[in-house]
Amino acid sequence: MISFHLNGKNTKVDADPNTPLLWVLRDDLQLTGTKYGCGIAQCGACTVHLDGRAVRSCVTPVSMASGRQVTTIEGLAETLLGKTVQSAWQAVDVPQCGYCQSGQIMAASALLKEHPHPSDSQITAAMDGNLCRCGTYNRIRTAIQMAAEQGGAK
Ligand code: FES
Ligand code: FES
Repeated sequence: MISFHLNGKNTKVDADPNTPLLWVLRDDLQLTGTKYGCGIAQCGACTVHLDGRAVRSCVTPVSMASGRQVTTIEGLAETLLGKTVQSAWQAVDVPQCGYCQSGQIMAASALLKEHPHPSDSQITAAMDGNLCRCGTYNRIRTAIQMAAEQGGAK
């Protein structure tokens, strides 16, 4: 058994310790907001927070979550930061197909936690590895700036 705090609740799973966290979240815990894109840490679709920092769950063994705080898009949505970021996303109308967007929001909210008023270069550094095949990058940047103005990281 591996125990961790998932979206604020104690959670136990009976999984091989090497199983990627992504598959435990999606298949064992039915949290399907976290997406599979590449499986090799190259796209960011699977981004979740581990102790508040953005990680790629497709290459994070579930054993690494043991005793730690895991937050997915479903849990983030319940927080003030998550609500602020999501409402900025809606105001800017960021998504196109939507597939990459939970990963984008998880990366953006980890950035805003660390840097409540990120510079352009901090946004670039934090978001660079989150790919969007629909090319929503400019709108993502605008939404991050809007969320920062609205004090999303308070
Ligand atoms: S699915 Fe994890 S980085 Fe692409
Ligand atoms: S909105 Fe389609 S991949 Fe990003």
